[in-house]
Amino acid sequence: MAEVPGPVERGAIRVASVHVLVIGSGAREHALLLALRRDPEVLALSVAPGNAGTGGIADQYEIDVTSRRAVTALAQSIGADLVVIGPEVPLVLGVADAVREAGIACFGPTKDAARIEGAKSFAKEVMTSAGVRTAGSEIVDNPAHLDSALDRFGPPSGDPAWVVKDDGLAAGKGVVVTADRDSARAHAAGLLEAGHPVLLESFLDGPEVSLFCLVDGETVVPLLPAQDFKRVGDGDSGPNTGGMGAYAPLPWLSGEMTERIVDEVVKPVAAELVKRGSPFSGLLYTGLAITSNGPAVIEFNCRFGDPETQAVLALLESPLGQLMRATATGELAGQSPLRWYDGFAVTVVVAAENYPGRPRVGDVIHGAETDPESSGSASSVLHAGTANRDDGAIVSSGGRVLSVVGIGSDLGAARDAAYARISSIRLPGSHFRSDIGLAAAEGKISLSSG
Ligand code: AMP
Ligand code: GLY
Repeated sequence: MAEVPGPVERGAIRVASVHVLVIGSGAREHALLLALRRDPEVLALSVAPGNAGTGGIADQYEIDVTSRRAVTALAQSIGADLVVIGPEVPLVLGVADAVREAGIACFGPTKDAARIEGAKSFAKEVMTSAGVRTAGSEIVDNPAHLDSALDRFGPPSGDPAWVVKDDGLAAGKGVVVTADRDSARAHAAGLLEAGHPVLLESFLDGPEVSLFCLVDGETVVPLLPAQDFKRVGDGDSGPNTGGMGAYAPLPWLSGEMTERIVDEVVKPVAAELVKRGSPFSGLLYTGLAITSNGPAVIEFNCRFGDPETQAVLALLESPLGQLMRATATGELAGQSPLRWYDGFAVTVVVAAENYPGRPRVGDVIHGAETDPESSGSASSVLHAGTANRDDGAIVSSGGRVLSVVGIGSDLGAARDAAYARISSIRLPGSHFRSDIGLAAAEGKISLSSG
């Protein structure tokens, strides 16, 4: 086992996080790297595998990030003091456990705790034990039981729509919400045919909130609440995606409601995981609907959300590296309260042609230069599905290609900054939503409960 590198002393300053290795390749990881770079105690940044935009701020390593051995070996060979795991797949596979076993601090939950995202049925069990409000649900794993189960959910039973989910990981695309029984049935039957158990849920009505919390055992520290836009098209039309945009904070959500979510949902779930011997360490993402009966959970994720992170971290003033290190080492309770910049952030995803289907890739992108942070600009471009071609061109390599972030003193100004920056980007066949944060900017979101 490698020794844990001790903290370095620089004069009177205790340098806690020296070299941070970030795992992942999306705009979320690009945002994490930018926020880590603002932390004066972070002296070196590496990323694996990264993308065409992260190469300028971190050393990049091409490894299999789902391999416990590959991630641990890389962290050891570059002398990383802290490994930050962005995506869910390595977490669900136990990569964080392996990094910790090698004696290196890791931001991200154990394989056991990551089941809160990796197995929706486990999340339901935890919520039931913790007394947390969520949609009623039923698992169907036998096609012969599908029709009777569909009759217990959806319009005949009073719900306005069926909610049909893949019980396992599905990159945000395993969910179909529809008032059409045939479509609900077809999605469920397709999942069952592929050998995936299906989760049917009652429909939760109300505006959605993504609340990210740093969690270390029973200590819970919420970040700014955000909202993301899952459907591909304006006006929430078309299929679900991994997320087409987000904004933070939410002008329509009171501080009291955020506290209620922390007290009624996140703390009880964190305590229940401790009680079950699977304490959570890292970022617990709670997706909720604010219904007329109060907040109800739609889903938990065991990591930062994408694209909400791009908006939330744009406003974080506190040093992210120190917070992550404290979370990873069980010292979160001793940290000072979080500080945020005033104002709002909006992020808009530029997606490749045909996303969320099989995206067209390999197109040259113009105007996606990442702006130096020192420019003081109100907008920035974060990369996701991008790669460097041999001739130096930046080309698309995935479905969600870029996340453009705008900041402003109000949501309208943040939207204007993001969309102004997008207008100078050229990617053949690409598309983006034009209504990210619009309803909130126009004051059109209200809660039916306080
Ligand atoms: P999930 O992957 O579980 O977050 O689901 C993706 C999206 O489907 C959510 O962001 C919601 O917009 C919608 N959704 C999921 N579950 C429900 C539910 N029980 N009621 C209403 N909408 C839901
Ligand atoms: N924004 C949704 C997710 O990260 O799963």
